Amino acid sequence: PGIAFGLDAPYSVEYRGRIGSTNERARELAGDGKSDVAVVADEQTGSRGRLDREWVAPSGGVWLSVLTRPDVPTARAPLFTLAAAVATTDAARHAGVDARIKWPNDVLVGDEADEADESDADNADPTGRGGRKLAGILTEMEGEADRVGWLVVGVGVNANIDPETLPAGATSLSAQRGAPVDRRRFAATLLERYAELTASSGALDGVLPAWRDRASTLGRRVRVDTADGVVEGTAVDVAEPGALVVDTDEGRRRVHAGDCEHLRD
Ligand code: BTN
Repeated sequence: PGIAFGLDAPYSVEYRGRIGSTNERARELAGDGKSDVAVVADEQTGSRGRLDREWVAPSGGVWLSVLTRPDVPTARAPLFTLAAAVATTDAARHAGVDARIKWPNDVLVGDEADEADESDADNADPTGRGGRKLAGILTEMEGEADRVGWLVVGVGVNANIDPETLPAGATSLSAQRGAPVDRRRFAATLLERYAELTASSGALDGVLPAWRDRASTLGRRVRVDTADGVVEGTAVDVAEPGALVVDTDEGRRRVHAGDCEHLRD
């Protein structure tokens, strides 16, 4: 089932009004051997965020998951998540909202401005500092050690939603613009940009430069909670396949996964 989506990307679109989780549905389709499908929903009743967190996904959002079977080494898979963050940021900017990326894949709004106003305790992302969260990304995959089998990139964008109904620290496109967005057009822009950024190995080479251009994390003091402990220092770069490079008192570290918090300088 689908609706006319006006999409200039190599995906068939499965549109659902209400669904448990678009990622779950995309995984189901992967199990059926499908590929190149985007599942898009208006509302999710059982959506998931990173690190097994709950993701609040009421009616009015852009909740979508893209299933592909890219012919790339598994080591490059993180680039797809970063590509989705770039695509989401570009779609937001297209809709007139100045979004930026917090490593690895949170899309935030109002970073600098919020930091300047230290009295407003509400102006915080879920980790406590710097910007309000507009969108998040959850990637799931299966494959061999050297080759990706299937890859599901799930993107949750607070589109036309009253932020009062979202967890503290969240914002929405409609709140930022003062008017609702055309969600179909927004989703189409996002999917088209994602398709472009991930079209080939050569295209993937462009993901890190694009990510750097849209990052709010680089050049800032950060604290990253990793499986091996806390890494604190200045974020200086992002390196293949998506690691954050942090200058700490003990030297330069590369962080591959973790929760990143922007600290005040
Ligand atoms: C995060 O924790 O920041 C990631 C949130 C990802 C939510 C999206 S909404 C569409 C897709 N379906 C899910 O169940 N989760 C992702």
